Amino acid sequence: MSLAFQQEGKTFVASVTGLDLRTPMGTQEAQALEQALAKYGLLILRNQQIGDDQQQAFIEKFGPPVVATLKELATGHPHFYDIATVDSDGQPIPADSVRGMYLLGNLLWHTDGSQNQPPIRLTALHARVLPPKPPRTEYADMCAAWEALPKQRQIELEGLMVEHSIYWLRQKMGLNMSDFSAETLASRPAVVHPLVRQHPVSGRKSLYLASHASHVIGWPLEKGRALIDELTAHATQPQFVYHLEWEANDLAIWDDRWTMHRSTPYNDPHPRVMRWCAVRELHNV
Ligand code: OGA
Ligand code: MN
Repeated sequence: MSLAFQQEGKTFVASVTGLDLRTPMGTQEAQALEQALAKYGLLILRNQQIGDDQQQAFIEKFGPPVVATLKELATGHPHFYDIATVDSDGQPIPADSVRGMYLLGNLLWHTDGSQNQPPIRLTALHARVLPPKPPRTEYADMCAAWEALPKQRQIELEGLMVEHSIYWLRQKMGLNMSDFSAETLASRPAVVHPLVRQHPVSGRKSLYLASHASHVIGWPLEKGRALIDELTAHATQPQFVYHLEWEANDLAIWDDRWTMHRSTPYNDPHPRVMRWCAVRELHNV
């Protein structure tokens, strides 16, 4: 069966058929997925019965995988994190642990890796263990959100630069700057990205927002924060949002350049384990 894309939901999501990642995909197929990620910000590959080696082979087709340096989320694999409700021994993750905090942070609309420079370009998430009623993941189409803004508004916004940092997200979650060690502060400096980006393949512009987006450079803090909140509310209106209903062994890959996403609340005792990997932009953004 050859590779095919079937649009899902409204406009920016497709499911992919004709690909079984138990055998590595070829360069042509990878190029077809790259092209498709300019048209569809989220691709869903259903029922991929793969393990770490095959997931690694998949992500490597898009560039060097992000190295997993956060030891709290480590899987033992150099390029994977676990977005999991249980640890490797099957014990629930306490809400007040660092891992618990990452899970809570994922409930906010975000763009993977926006707190880094270069940021993440693509993320791939594989459903390893799903509960009977899995929580869905929500995705927002940031090109459609941009295109829906009045022309005058677009003119006002283009050229603005936004500071992103891990600290802003953590502050929103109740931590103080004094909770961070000097070593952490030095190793994870705040970064600056444009508010409006243009996709190199599609040429479409999009809003680049995230839970790490703190304020607008050159503006009073509160004014910039209010703008970020207002645009986030705009971009996550129902007409721009797709709800991914996970099924066993689904692999989702999304383009972080023009989508935002968030997890949805999950308090069930049944474990949920999702294996995460990503590739970065090659240049600062
Ligand atoms: C992620 C993420 C959401 C979820 O993997 O980057 O935000 O529903 N996941 O697990
Ligand atoms: Mn994420």
